Amino acid sequence: MAIFVTGATGLVGGHVVNYLLQQTDILVNSADEIICLVRNPSKATELKQLGVKMIHGDLSNIPILNKIFNDYSIKYVFHIAACVSVYASFEEMFQTNVIGTKNLLEAFSRSSARSFIHTSSIIVYDHHHLRKRNTIVKFTESSPIGPKQRGKDIPYAVSKRIGEDLVVEFAKRYPDKSFLITRLGPIIGKGDRQMIPSLVKAFALPLPKLINKGLGQISLTAPLDVARAQVFLVKNGNSYSGQAFNIAKERWNFRQLFNVVAEYYNRPPPKISIPLWLFRLFKPFLHLIKIIWSKSEFIQTLLSSSALEYMEYSYEYDAQKLKNLGFQFTTDIKNCILKGLQAYDPEKLMVSKRIKRKEIN
Ligand SMILES: NC(=O)c1ccc[n+]([C@@H]2O[C@H](COP(=O)([O-])OP(=O)(O)OC[C@H]3O[C@@H](n4cnc5c(N)ncnc54)[C@H](OP(=O)(O)O)[C@@H]3O)[C@@H](O)[C@H]2O)c1
Repeated sequence: MAIFVTGATGLVGGHVVNYLLQQTDILVNSADEIICLVRNPSKATELKQLGVKMIHGDLSNIPILNKIFNDYSIKYVFHIAACVSVYASFEEMFQTNVIGTKNLLEAFSRSSARSFIHTSSIIVYDHHHLRKRNTIVKFTESSPIGPKQRGKDIPYAVSKRIGEDLVVEFAKRYPDKSFLITRLGPIIGKGDRQMIPSLVKAFALPLPKLINKGLGQISLTAPLDVARAQVFLVKNGNSYSGQAFNIAKERWNFRQLFNVVAEYYNRPPPKISIPLWLFRLFKPFLHLIKIIWSKSEFIQTLLSSSALEYMEYSYEYDAQKLKNLGFQFTTDIKNCILKGLQAYDPEKLMVSKRIKRKEIN
């Protein structure tokens, strides 16, 4: 019996592999029963240490995918790989998130494997039409999905929506197998390439950090809880084939988030806030900065579409459907943020350097 994992060199995939080796819900006799598709072996040092089997390849490589299902007796597939880069074009997103997903679904469907867990995102919901100012908008699995046409939304959102449709289509075509969709909320923790870097970069800037007193809220989840939830669904979700489950733990506001960053750097928490009306006035200018500095990792991370959205609107992603099956979120978010900060800036140089320079001046 083997388990096939894609995206194992990433934030979520790394946690899923680690958790698979610790848990007892699904049988794993030894680390080499976990088969990981790895694009770049130089990024896989942690996986090597764990002793899992690594197969060099990409989701576009159909022969490799077929060979994996032929060579190993795969029972479960955790499809976590995706193009999530803030720089990627629609074509790149489509190639991995749609064509890559289709290649994997086809290889899985031809095999004797039983269970396919697809990793999607809460980005699929129609935030644009449902958002309301000064209120928390709640999304359940039956909330409306956003547009699926190129150009009607950011490429990542469109590609994740089409990817989900493929999973639903395969679930209908192959009723003997289980296909589950997990819609992950924003994840924060060790290895996070978006939330933690954005918070630290914003904190280091000599500008007001808070918009509307930092009251904008975001549903956060620990990567370990995502791994726990996906394994839980493999065991408990088989009668829900073709359905989606939100995975999101709890709401945090930006003031709370910056307070944890301030605590990590041993600095006073930010106090100065920009009123919402002023932020809205500046928003077109921020979009212009993003276009002008389209090659700057700093600007693209700091002003990512989701970062700008979350500063202005508050969303909650309801995971009651998952909880109704008996799942409980157990990982402490503050701890995760501190671990993420420790991994991202262990020497605490990113903030103190700037402040020291200011103090010298
Ligand atoms: N992080 C979040 O807040 C969040 C929120 C909602 C949903 N999600 C979903 O969670 C999943 C994992 O996200 P993440 O945050 O862990 O991203 P990540 O850290 O960037 O990891 C992405 C993984 O996918 C692999 N990959 C990308 N393109 C590939 C391809 N063409 N063929 C094979 N492997 C490929 C990457 O390999 P390399 O290491 O070689 O690049 C990496 O292992 C994605 O499906 C994403 O949509 C994440």
